[in-house]
Amino acid sequence: MWKRKEVIGGQTLYLGDCLEVMPQLGRFNAVVTDPPFEAQAHSAMIRTQKSAKSGEAIELGFGAITEGLRSFIPEWAAANCSGWMLAFCQVEGVAAWRDSMERAGLKYKRGMVWVKPDSSPQFNGQMPAQGFECIASAWCGNGHSRWNGGGRRGVFTHNTNQPDRHGLHPTEKPNPLMREILGLFTDPGNQVIDPFMGSGTTLVACQRLGRNGTGIELDPEYFEIACRRVDEATRQKDLFVAPDAPPKAEQGNFF
Ligand SMILES: C[S@@+](CC[C@H](N)C(=O)[O-])C[C@H]1O[C@@H](n2cnc3c(N)ncnc32)[C@H](O)[C@@H]1O
Repeated sequence: MWKRKEVIGGQTLYLGDCLEVMPQLGRFNAVVTDPPFEAQAHSAMIRTQKSAKSGEAIELGFGAITEGLRSFIPEWAAANCSGWMLAFCQVEGVAAWRDSMERAGLKYKRGMVWVKPDSSPQFNGQMPAQGFECIASAWCGNGHSRWNGGGRRGVFTHNTNQPDRHGLHPTEKPNPLMREILGLFTDPGNQVIDPFMGSGTTLVACQRLGRNGTGIELDPEYFEIACRRVDEATRQKDLFVAPDAPPKAEQGNFF
C-alpha cells in the first residue's frame, strides 16, 4: 500500500514502493519513467560528483536498479498498459531493459538517445566524458506501434541545466526534454504512469501538456518536492503548452 496519496490538478502522486502501489492501480496508456541507474553507472555517478566538487561523495538517497524491479515494471506494463513503455537508462543498460521487456511479452522497438550538450567534462582526462543517456522503448499494446513523430529520429537534444531547473534531485530531468517526449509518445487526455517519479518532472510535463499523470516515489523528501513542483505547474498561465516542434530534417545525409 501507499503511505500518502495527493491529487494535484490532473496528477496523482503516491508516496510508496512502486512494487506495492502499482498492483492496486488501473489501466494506463503509457509508462514513461527514469528508473535508478545500473549499479556500475550509479557508483560512477557518485565518483564523478565527488571529483567534480573535490570533496565528499554525494548522497543520491536511493540505490541502483534491481533485477526484481527491472522485471516487474515490464510485466506490469504487459498487463496494464496499451501504449508505450519508455525507460531512461545508461547505454550499458539498454540490452538488459530490452531483455526484460521481451521476456514480459512487450514489443521492444529501439534504444533512443538524450544528448546533453552541457554535460560535465571528464575531469581526469583519461577517457571521453559521458554526453548522453539512452531511452529503451517498447510497445505494450496490440497491433502496430504509433507515435506523433512521423519519420523523425529518436534523438533528443536538451541541456541538463535549464533556466527552470530546480536542482533539488540529483538526477532531475530537464522540463523541455520530458515535454518533447510526452508530446511525441502520448496524446492529450492519456493516462501516464511514472513509477520512479523522483522530483516529479514527468508529472510537471503531463500537467503542462494536458495528460493525466500518476507518479510513485519511495523517498518522502522527493515526494514533497514533486508535490510542490506539480502544484506550481497547475498555477502557470500557459497551462497547455504545445509540444516542442521537431527540428527540420537534415538535407542530403542518408548515412
Ligand atoms: C532517477 S530518479 C528519477 C528522477 C526524476 N526523473 C526527476 O526528474 O526528478 C529515480 C527515483 O526512483 C525512486 N525509487 C527507487 N526505487 C523505487 C521504488 N521501488 N518505488 C518508487 N520509487 C523508487 C528513487 O528514490 C529516485 O527518486
